[in-house]
Amino acid sequence: MNFNNLDQLYRSVIMDHYKNPRNKGVIEDGTMTVDMNNPTCGDRIHLTFDIVDGIVHDAKFEGEGCSISMSSASMMTEAIKGHSLKEAMQMSQEFTKMMLGEDYTITEDMGDIEALQGVSQFPARIKCATLAWKALEKGTVEKEGKGTTEDE
Ligand code: FES
Repeated sequence: MNFNNLDQLYRSVIMDHYKNPRNKGVIEDGTMTVDMNNPTCGDRIHLTFDIVDGIVHDAKFEGEGCSISMSSASMMTEAIKGHSLKEAMQMSQEFTKMMLGEDYTITEDMGDIEALQGVSQFPARIKCATLAWKALEKGTVEKEGKGTTEDE
C-alpha cells in the first residue's frame, strides 16, 4: 500500500469513528468520572468508567469537539476495555509517543488508534487527539491518589 492509500485508509477510519462513535454515552453508576477541556479551543469531553478491581469493564464518552478529538475518544474507549488501568496508562504513553513522532508500540488491542498517527505532523491538532487520553490519565491519577474521584 502506498502512502496515499494508507493516508486515505486512516482518514476513513477516523471519519468512521466520528460518525459512528463507539461507546458514546454515560455510565450512570460509573466508578470513575472525568471532565476535561481542550484549553486551545474550549471543546470538552466527559468520560465515565466502570472499573472493578483495577480492570476497565466499561468506558463511555460524550462531549463536543472536532472529528479528531471525538474519534480519538471513541478509539480510546474501545482500546482500554477489558484492560487494567495500568495497561491503559501504558497505552496512553505509547499514544503520546506516537503524537510526539517518537518510536511507539501499538498492540493489536489498540485497534484503530494508529489511524491518528498523521496528526503528529500538525502540532495544533495534537491536543485534539490527546484530549481523551489526558482525561483518562487525570482520572487515573485522581483515583489512585484518593481511592476515589471528586465526582463520586
Ligand atoms: Fe477542539 Fe479539536 S478543535 S478538540
